[in-house]
Amino acid sequence: MNAPTKSPEPIHGKGVVKQHLIDPEICIRCYTCEMTCPVGAIEHDDNNVVVDVTKCDFCMDCIPVCPTGSIDEWRVVKEPYSLDEQYSWSELPEQQSLEQDASPDEGGDDPIAALLAEAHKGTGGKPKAPASAARPTVNLYNLGKPATARVAGNFRLTDDPGHDVRHIILDFGAQPMPVLEGQSVGIIPPGTDSEGKPHLPRLYSVSSPRDGERRGYNNLSLTVKREEKGLCSNHVCDLKIGDEVQVTGPFGATFLMPDDPDARLLLICTGTGSAPFRAFTMRKQRGGAAPGEIVMFFGARTPDSLPYFGPLKKVPERVLKKHLVFSRIPGAEKEYVQDRMMVEQDMIADMLNDAKTHIYICGLRGMEQGVEEAFRSIAESIGLAWDATRDAMREEGRYHVETY
Ligand code: A2P
Repeated sequence: MNAPTKSPEPIHGKGVVKQHLIDPEICIRCYTCEMTCPVGAIEHDDNNVVVDVTKCDFCMDCIPVCPTGSIDEWRVVKEPYSLDEQYSWSELPEQQSLEQDASPDEGGDDPIAALLAEAHKGTGGKPKAPASAARPTVNLYNLGKPATARVAGNFRLTDDPGHDVRHIILDFGAQPMPVLEGQSVGIIPPGTDSEGKPHLPRLYSVSSPRDGERRGYNNLSLTVKREEKGLCSNHVCDLKIGDEVQVTGPFGATFLMPDDPDARLLLICTGTGSAPFRAFTMRKQRGGAAPGEIVMFFGARTPDSLPYFGPLKKVPERVLKKHLVFSRIPGAEKEYVQDRMMVEQDMIADMLNDAKTHIYICGLRGMEQGVEEAFRSIAESIGLAWDATRDAMREEGRYHVETY
């Protein structure tokens, strides 16, 4: 996501208010916005994360930290939506047409459109799902009513001793847990925080396809890296077969696969950002209306720290074209995904020129800038303006970013 421009003022024009809202369908309940907001305007209940119109001062600090873009929602209203109303939503209300009593000098001929344009300036627009994607289920299990899953497997994926990444399989038994590739679930760590409150769930991308880690079973897999002092990652990485885990979700309604055999996917990831792409690849391997071509750029420190290195090498090129790049191989030059994209620029240029191409970026927030620079350079080499190309792709549900 681009860095947003700071909105100059909260706009309280004549009789109308610009209100900051969160899209409950797209929000993955990671609570990063709430933790970031400097004025305590963002809060949550068991169901939703909401913005208090009386506290939000439009500082925009929450916009770039949101992994999904669900935070970037604005409505111009006569009567602001209350917290209770926002808590009850499962989807965002449309912008209402208002009887406009704001004068044109407050925003051209259409003050509402001008206010909304102001709100979106610099953020690149709202993420959208691919037009052909299946409709996801969202927020089936929440903080008040989590699902209880049983651990069916916990396998270490990396040989690098300082880099413990796990493949965790969770079985949901008789509880329905319909997930699509690209969605996430929350894991609630046991215990309470320093104030005695239950811990908030941590979000993990599902790394198995919609028909289960084991086909036809009601299970899914996660790809979890042990973080030093990470409360939830240590809990998950230490799970034993048979342990019970409290799970929320599924979450996410835009970072989804097109169900279109003519679609071409360009996947760019680092580390555990590969999780959704494992799911995409398995969906294609298992047939169905999956995309015809999938190209992946995957960055890790070394082969020993690249999750699924062994199995990934065995996936045939006709299923997945792989560019695995490494930054810390002794004696070799450091290579990032964006470096390899430049090496493969002709292929990427061809994909950028094709209206069937979908781009997905997942992993370290830091890579976003370098990847965008590579895209900009490649786009410009074939006479395309990158910002306009990217924004049009996003508008068509063909450009997806999930970074953290
Ligand atoms: P580095 O060696 O510089 O840390 P992991 O999450 O498994 O550590 O993998 C992340 C990978 O992404 C590493 O190879 C890391 O390289 C690389 N990386 C770090 N910063 C960036 C960046 N700004 N752009 C692209 N790749 C990056």
